[in-house]
Amino acid sequence: MLRAMEQILKDKSVVITGAGRGLGAAYARHVSGLGASVVVNDINEDAANATAEALRKAGGKAVVSAGSISSWDYAAKLVETCVSAFGRIDGLVNNAAILAHGKVTEMSERDLRAMLEVNTIGSAGCATHAIRQMLKQGTPGSIVNISSGSHAGDIALGGYGASKAAVASFTYCWALELRDTNVRVNAVSPLAHTPMAESNMKLLAEQSASREVVYTTLPQPEVNAPAVAFLLSDASIGVNGQIVRIAGNELSYNTHPMIAQPVLKGEWTDTAIAAAFRDTLAARQQRLGLAYER
Ligand SMILES: NC(=O)c1ccc[n+]([C@@H]2O[C@H](COP(=O)([O-])OP(=O)(O)OC[C@H]3O[C@@H](n4cnc5c(N)ncnc54)[C@H](O)[C@@H]3O)[C@@H](O)[C@H]2O)c1
Repeated sequence: MLRAMEQILKDKSVVITGAGRGLGAAYARHVSGLGASVVVNDINEDAANATAEALRKAGGKAVVSAGSISSWDYAAKLVETCVSAFGRIDGLVNNAAILAHGKVTEMSERDLRAMLEVNTIGSAGCATHAIRQMLKQGTPGSIVNISSGSHAGDIALGGYGASKAAVASFTYCWALELRDTNVRVNAVSPLAHTPMAESNMKLLAEQSASREVVYTTLPQPEVNAPAVAFLLSDASIGVNGQIVRIAGNELSYNTHPMIAQPVLKGEWTDTAIAAAFRDTLAARQQRLGLAYER
């Protein structure tokens, strides 16, 4: 028989961005059920209010902060809201994001800038302010960034993938910078049926011939929430700089970008470079797109 999960987030105060719907709302419901006090952010105030109301009805503690995370100043206020409502900030789930399709020849500057403003700079602003506050508090802190499998390469998702690759890179960099502190930084690469994913399904079906990992049906958002809750809890102290991939019944880490073997040594003249590619490297190109490690 399953034992009821203990309140692993009792006394934790967390900010969840984009928690008005989809995955963010599912994270908010789950972590609230595990005892966390939640600041519900969304650019859509009605949606944020609905999530917070549902958390309070279920007996949880929640306040709303409506606004766009793409503003650096707003990100500071979001963190302040958590501190003034609940006394401190213990966790940040950097979930809010937007997605626009476009192959490289079709991409619009407006869409690309919008994705970078929200997904990349927005996540950085929230993390910067949250980490400053966590370090000031001296209490254990957990940043949970949200990346995406698209950053490994996906057709017509270059802008979105790049914005999420930057989030993965922030995760590695910040985790390294903070490894001697009690703030840890990880990321989740989730998969769920949400309004964002709905807009993506037709495209994914069209590309299935060129993908190794193909999804036909998507899990419910709730399936992703225990991994986020774990990373927010003290049980994950010691886990740092990882991208946790959760896809239905599959749980894994994503590999980090690494220097691939073989590392050839020599004097790299024009002739030697050409020979190295001809004899070795041309046949050892890295896989393109999301793939299982072999
Ligand atoms: N759904 C998936 O399968 C999937 C896969 C990989 C990664 N992700 C990532 O998971 C996260 C959640 O995705 P989702 O599928 O729930 O998306 P969604 O579009 O359903 O929900 C996103 C929420 O973010 C809010 N939001 C958008 N811009 C904002 C801003 N500037 N400030 C504050 N809030 C804003 C929206 O109003 C919305 O409520 C995103 O980071 C997404 O990139 C999702």
